[in-house]
Amino acid sequence: MGVIKRIAVLTSGGDAPGMNAAIRAVTRCALAQDWDVLGVRRGYAGLVEGEVEPLTGRSVSNIMQRGGTMLGSARCPEFEKEDTRREALHRLKENRVDALVVIGGNGSQAGALALAEMGVPVVGVASTIDNDLAGSEITIGVDTALNIALEAIDRLKTTASSHQRAFLVEVMGRKCGYLALMAGLAGGAEIVVIPERETSPEEVARQLRAAYERGKKHALAVVAEGALHNAGKLDAWFREHSAQIGFDLRTTTLGHVQRGGTPTAFDRLLGTRLGAGAVAALMRSEQGVLVGLNEGRVTTTSLTEVAGVRKVIDPELFRLASVLEQ
Ligand code: F6P
Repeated sequence: MGVIKRIAVLTSGGDAPGMNAAIRAVTRCALAQDWDVLGVRRGYAGLVEGEVEPLTGRSVSNIMQRGGTMLGSARCPEFEKEDTRREALHRLKENRVDALVVIGGNGSQAGALALAEMGVPVVGVASTIDNDLAGSEITIGVDTALNIALEAIDRLKTTASSHQRAFLVEVMGRKCGYLALMAGLAGGAEIVVIPERETSPEEVARQLRAAYERGKKHALAVVAEGALHNAGKLDAWFREHSAQIGFDLRTTTLGHVQRGGTPTAFDRLLGTRLGAGAVAALMRSEQGVLVGLNEGRVTTTSLTEVAGVRKVIDPELFRLASVLEQ
């Protein structure tokens, strides 16, 4: 990698609370090195269109407490095509960008690897509410999303107790059950349904009934959106079998609510540390790496070990949830 004079930063894929803290840290740490910083609007889609603007210390003022991303984000399936990536390469050259920082999750880091393989100095920053990205034990946005899910669970439990009803809450996470499992553990669910370990509707009904039989006033299932029997399927099954089941079930799908709102202190600090870590990596001439948090430290992992690899959930946590559900 040559001498860096100018970098660009983009946020890509699903937004995550804490991305703004990462943009701010990248910008201010780069400016401290006397590098120019360009912000790319709307992720890879904006890069291909050449939607860039200079970022100054002031343009990233007062953004840390805001959810979402000040740069905007987009899904860009076209980026899988080489022609599209060549266009991006052209835009980077045109704007005399010496290195690119990509803040995003799995799809975004796959795009970052593809650019790295075309010779672009790229550093990724681990950011997705799903926590399914290898190379970082925790990613930007997870903590906020989890706290939002927990608030919903706590609220639902009060009405569930008043009515002695069963509740089903579906949380996001794509094909990963991390958010559901953690929300279930921290929220005291009676059962957690995740893609990594399928659970039949009969088993869900059995566990919810068992909760009442043990004297509980509420019975709550947390379901990951990526589970084979997600909230929609379970809800339909419960309706179909309502006569035999003998208790009422109400279903809530949290959806994008989990991605909105103010980032927690944890996500602001994680965004800040990982954003600063990306600039530090470039200062060491490291490229083609993902900046993440492992064992409490900011680390880098080659994008080749990260892209397309889904992080595995610790089975011990699932066992713990099964014990605590009782
Ligand atoms: O990857 C983050 C995520 O919020 C997933 O949990 C969810 O499945 C997906 O994005 C939703 O994508 P979109 O915002 O494009 O509908």
